[in-house]
Amino acid sequence: MTSKSRSTEVAIVGAGVVGLSCAFELARRGKSVIVIEREEAGFGASTVAAGMLTPSFEVETTPPELVELQLDSLSRYPAFVLEIEAASGLSCGYRDEGTLWVSRHRDDELELEHIRKIQEDRGLPARRLTGRETRQIEPYLSPRIIGGLLVETDHQVNSRKLVPALAAACRNVGVELVERTAVRTVERTGGRIELTLHSPGDQTVLRSEQVLLAAGVWLEEGLVTPLPRIGMRPIKGQIVHLKGQLLVNHVLRNSDVYIVPRAGGELLLGATEEEQGFDMQPTAGGTLDLLRYAFEILPGLYDLYVSEIDVGLRPAVSDHQPVLGPTDSEGIFIAGGHYRGGVILAPATAHWMAELMTTGSVPEAIERFGVDRLIAQQQEAAG
Ligand code: GLY
Repeated sequence: MTSKSRSTEVAIVGAGVVGLSCAFELARRGKSVIVIEREEAGFGASTVAAGMLTPSFEVETTPPELVELQLDSLSRYPAFVLEIEAASGLSCGYRDEGTLWVSRHRDDELELEHIRKIQEDRGLPARRLTGRETRQIEPYLSPRIIGGLLVETDHQVNSRKLVPALAAACRNVGVELVERTAVRTVERTGGRIELTLHSPGDQTVLRSEQVLLAAGVWLEEGLVTPLPRIGMRPIKGQIVHLKGQLLVNHVLRNSDVYIVPRAGGELLLGATEEEQGFDMQPTAGGTLDLLRYAFEILPGLYDLYVSEIDVGLRPAVSDHQPVLGPTDSEGIFIAGGHYRGGVILAPATAHWMAELMTTGSVPEAIERFGVDRLIAQQQEAAG
């Protein structure tokens, strides 16, 4: 076992889409950054994500302040992607055909009306469609589709392209990415922060002026930090990949399933939401549900090939909102708990966390997502 010691300005724990986006932004602002990842970049939820950038369809279940942050992030996406592509020379697979909500029956139609009403109240553009108009836009839709709602401003990005592009962009702007290395402890000692890093045959003490915890569901698993427990837990998501004829161009959604087309004739059907701890095995039931719901709206998928069933663990806290801000330990910050929104929220998270970590003041855009709300809640629950 070799033992080393090193130092940096910023250490980021976790190379998911959130950790890498923050690293890229901080490095562009002149910081020396090391990102430490226990597996490979994007191993957690990031590369499993379908990559929908669809805040207009989250309005029903998402608090207005979080929708605002999502819209802020969506507006940053084109520039974010251009910068990553320029720095990496790789495509992020950004597509702007728009997102189409489809309804199968009266219940769906009423839900759609409800969503449209909220969108209108918030000034979000959308076009209400009849069944015929919906099928004109996507001719392979089932004849059972009786209505639709088209949001041309809700886009998508291919997370399996975005994460490698981000990792390459980070390296090209000077970020050091240390993979297959676990961070065991983060502690403040004698006015500085020390991290202990372990990889096979190697142990390193890393001293850093600032630390950003972006470890996803592993924040409270095998990682000891000064942060009290905040109840981070995994929400399992299964996603079925189909391959074959290109059946649709838009992202399709309803209340049961989403269908995301990717280049090369791939269709992603997502996603289950399960409380199964750290179980990462696909199940017959999860696959059955996704295929059944997707088949109802797009019967032509019957003849496609199943190329993969992927499983990811979304990091969530009790209110299912992100955790962004400083902690009580000076110099230690957190960007986590993005739940279903890691990909959509990446540009805004990177921008606002970099503002915070370079200026020392909490930006208004992320003020309400601070960690204190969870610590107070956990303490109350413990009595
Ligand atoms: N972002 C969609 C999902 O987590 O299923």
